[in-house]
Amino acid sequence: MARDQKDHYYRRAKEEGYRARSAYKLLQINQKFHLIKKGDRVVDLGAAPGGWLQVAKELAGKEGRIVGVDLEAIEPIPGVVTFRADITAESTVERIKEAIGGEADVVICDAAPNLSGAWDMDHARSIDLSRSALALAEKLLRPRGHFLVKVFQGDMFTDFLAEVKQEFSQVQAHSPAASRKESAEMYVVAKKRISGPVRPGDVLEVQIESLGKSGDGVAMVNGFAVIVKGARLGERLRIKVGAVKPNFAFASIIERKD
Ligand SMILES: C[S@@+](CC[C@H](N)C(=O)[O-])C[C@H]1O[C@@H](n2cnc3c(N)ncnc32)[C@H](O)[C@@H]1O
Repeated sequence: MARDQKDHYYRRAKEEGYRARSAYKLLQINQKFHLIKKGDRVVDLGAAPGGWLQVAKELAGKEGRIVGVDLEAIEPIPGVVTFRADITAESTVERIKEAIGGEADVVICDAAPNLSGAWDMDHARSIDLSRSALALAEKLLRPRGHFLVKVFQGDMFTDFLAEVKQEFSQVQAHSPAASRKESAEMYVVAKKRISGPVRPGDVLEVQIESLGKSGDGVAMVNGFAVIVKGARLGERLRIKVGAVKPNFAFASIIERKD
């Protein structure tokens, strides 16, 4: 008997009517991180055969809207829109926008390259796919929307994680119990898309325009509040942006200009 057929999640998927054992990965991730909720618009990239789509549909309910994209055809799922497309192709974003009918609340991506067995190459191709998914998420997600993506671990993983951290307020790598022990896959869970004009690590010249409740200085950058610890009203400063939240950011003083 093949390994898959003995696997606990494989058997459960058969019994419970899910098309793939990976359905349990999304269920477990959602239980922990609460990415998808009732009424959400969800885009699933690399969605065949459709286990995640089934779970997303259950979680988003009747009011939700689910769109799945894959190179392969997906057997129809009631209430889910699917089409064949390459997530690395430029034209795919417009097709998804049309299908979802507005901004997405959540973008999920379990896409995987065909494995060659040459580890470095498979890792690089996985990172390429994950970057394509991140680029699509940036075009599709509403401010504060969430993103989930699979990545095979390897030496480019840390850089990719840093790229995701530039765009989302809360980011962490997670391996659900349903991932096979021997698997190198890891899921990056990214919550609350940042839509403001500043990013972690930005160095800016600002003037403190007001003081917050805590007494810290507040500078406005294109209408976005940046809280600068220890800054005084009216000061001109060079600052470095730290944590960025959906509606404001924190920064530290590099240099006082006055
Ligand atoms: C592990 S499967 C996804 C399983 C799915 N989450 C489920 O629960 O049924 C990975 C999928 O990624 C798809 N894929 C790989 N590269 C792709 C690309 N460039 N564009 C779209 N889909 C892609 C593959 O065709 C494959 O169906």
